[in-house]
Amino acid sequence: MKIGNISFAEPFVSLAPLAGYGDVAFRRICRDYGASLTVTEMVSVKGLVYGNEKTECLLRLAPNETPSCVQLFGSEPEYFRKALALPELNKFDIIDVNMGCPVPKVTKCGEGSALMRESERAAEIVAACVESADGRPVTVKHRLGYSANYINAVRFAEKMQEAGAAAITVHGRTTEQGYSGVADWEKISEVARAVTVPVIGNGDVADFKGVEFALKAGCSGVAIGRGALGKPHVFAEEKREPLLNIILKHLSYSLEYFPEAVAVRTMRKHLCKYLAGVRGTKELRMQVNSISSAETLVRALKEGLGEQC
Ligand SMILES: Cc1cc2nc3c(=O)[nH]c(=O)nc-3n(C[C@H](O)[C@H](O)[C@H](O)COP(=O)(O)O)c2cc1C
Repeated sequence: MKIGNISFAEPFVSLAPLAGYGDVAFRRICRDYGASLTVTEMVSVKGLVYGNEKTECLLRLAPNETPSCVQLFGSEPEYFRKALALPELNKFDIIDVNMGCPVPKVTKCGEGSALMRESERAAEIVAACVESADGRPVTVKHRLGYSANYINAVRFAEKMQEAGAAAITVHGRTTEQGYSGVADWEKISEVARAVTVPVIGNGDVADFKGVEFALKAGCSGVAIGRGALGKPHVFAEEKREPLLNIILKHLSYSLEYFPEAVAVRTMRKHLCKYLAGVRGTKELRMQVNSISSAETLVRALKEGLGEQC
């Protein structure tokens, strides 16, 4: 499996970009368990160009993120060009363009999946990125189309390939679907057959059975999103560590990158995912939401999880 000139061991199973969850600490632990590639949360090219402080935090990389990938979003080719001229983006090996975000705040600005209705502009963005990326591969992540009546993933992927995209991730839902319903792997498969660049299938994969299914559908790789939340070990085919160890390792990474209060607060939403469905943790789940020190959190986790996990 190759994206541009970058080779990956097979099977290729990456962490899909996850705004609000895919912070540097979470990505690092996913890599520990074998994620082939991890992608930053989506970063606004305008935010980058205007030096928005928040974007700086989104660009942090873990030491095991090699090769690395940044996901950019925007609607104007010129801003992608300007963003890629900034030194902050030099450290990334792959540039991914978000053409799948369905959030109205984003689409109403012509960004994210709104670009699927503007394939000319989308192609111009890819071409601008290719020109500005200094030989680094540029990839695109998109959906099946805008709505059930507007499914254009095959034509769109072909156009992105023509514009220079080195790989394409297809999320098997439309914009209108958001995250509801089930991903349509038949349609993802059609895209995989239509283009020559690698297609990374995405949607509802939560284990290695799903990975096998996706590869049989003709994809070159798979991206896992929600299936990795509270389960970064989803990337490890066999390995299974006690949940407590996984959580403590995740917390220690969080503390490396964020001030303690931020790290503990960030861990709350991850803990909600880690503990979902773990029997006997109702009290612990409520407790962690009011804890603000790492030491207290570790103690609560050891007490609440020690015996059973
Ligand atoms: C909380 C959340 C945040 C997401 N953030 C992004 C993002 O920043 N960029 C992007 O391309 N997709 C984003 N997605 C979409 C996922 O990358 C993925 O395409 C989608 O969740 C389907 O895959 P899954 O069924 O494996 O979760 C997000 C999804 C969720 C649930």
